[in-house]
Amino acid sequence: MLACSMAIAFLGSTAVRTIQEMLLAAAAVLSLHALLFMWFFNRNGSSGFSSSSTAEEVTRGVDASGLTAIVTGASSGIGTETARVLALRGVHVIMGVRNMASGREVKDALVREIPAAKVDVMELDLSSLASVRKFASEFNSSGRPLNLLINNAGIMATPFMLSKDNIELQFATNHLGHFLLTNLLLDTMKKTARESDIEGRIVNVSSEFHRYPYPEGIRFDNINDQSGYKRFLAYGQSKLANVLHANELTRRFKEDRVEVTANSVHPGLIATNLFRHYSFLTGLVGLVGKYVIKNVQQGAATTCYVALHPKVKGMSGQYFADSSIAKASLQANDAELATKLWDFSLDLVRRGSTPS
Ligand SMILES: NC(=O)c1ccc[n+]([C@@H]2O[C@H](COP(=O)([O-])OP(=O)(O)OC[C@H]3O[C@@H](n4cnc5c(N)ncnc54)[C@H](OP(=O)(O)O)[C@@H]3O)[C@@H](O)[C@H]2O)c1
Repeated sequence: MLACSMAIAFLGSTAVRTIQEMLLAAAAVLSLHALLFMWFFNRNGSSGFSSSSTAEEVTRGVDASGLTAIVTGASSGIGTETARVLALRGVHVIMGVRNMASGREVKDALVREIPAAKVDVMELDLSSLASVRKFASEFNSSGRPLNLLINNAGIMATPFMLSKDNIELQFATNHLGHFLLTNLLLDTMKKTARESDIEGRIVNVSSEFHRYPYPEGIRFDNINDQSGYKRFLAYGQSKLANVLHANELTRRFKEDRVEVTANSVHPGLIATNLFRHYSFLTGLVGLVGKYVIKNVQQGAATTCYVALHPKVKGMSGQYFADSSIAKASLQANDAELATKLWDFSLDLVRRGSTPS
């Protein structure tokens, strides 16, 4: 009954206009069914944790003092909770945020709660390649080590917009900014791993939406095509890119015997500011919220588990959900697509502007 009313509310929404969007909405409803099932039965996954485990629970007993992490998008939602729990476990957290005032507010609240927390705030706008370069250059020249990179920041289903570098905004923010950031920080991560003898970990926060990109996966030939733009498919494209990016990093790390891992995660469905462009989704979340969605404490669990848990040591190129290994889509496991995305992204950041 509940699922039916959700489907009707969702499919009937005026925001769901095209057949493609209706199909996508239907798929999202099906995913919600799966979530509903998981929630009611609340099964523990292979890690022993479940969808209701919190970030504190999945990292209980982990002493991470001495580690340094960068968390992007730590000024809100899952990123804030990730920063809090990493700091609670002793990690020195650098919050990469585009809004310094809200970043400082989050830091102050965090330090009030955990007086021993080591937290810094640095400006980072992932939709600007210049800002990413500035952030990485300041971080690298600070001489700090870097053990953990949490590529968390994201936007969802925005109207068509271009980034400061004239690249479709969701692809630019969710994927390309993180792609460049990761590349620029890699030498520091590798050096830290070598000198500390502790593996570095990169966590890309993706989404189950990676299963619903454009049919071709990534629109290499028309990434900026406004006429064919579908905001949810563009979000799916960017989240597929997050998984492909982690997989391609893994392939390269293995080839070069680098002691750094890269994984991607689906955090779950959590009511955060991510839904700001979609009042109908907020309504849907409100309707089923208390039954299926996670709170931010649960929403940050998979990220924190993959970043800190000893059981994840040596694992790379995996997709996690509910703090356990899960199966990503066929497209996400396409190694050729991952390499093609790498070359395409490298070309974009080298040119630093509009794709031809
Ligand atoms: N919530 C969910 O149900 C859900 C499900 C699956 C995946 N995810 C993924 O989880 C991640 C975190 O999302 P959330 O739910 O916590 O949403 P959120 O509360 O909106 O947080 C997103 C964070 O990203 C930051 N951000 C956005 N654009 C940025 C930019 N250009 N440069 C730097 N930072 C930027 C935001 O900064 P401001 O505070 O300045 O806006 C905010 O701190 C995203 O990657 C999202 O795709 C979320």
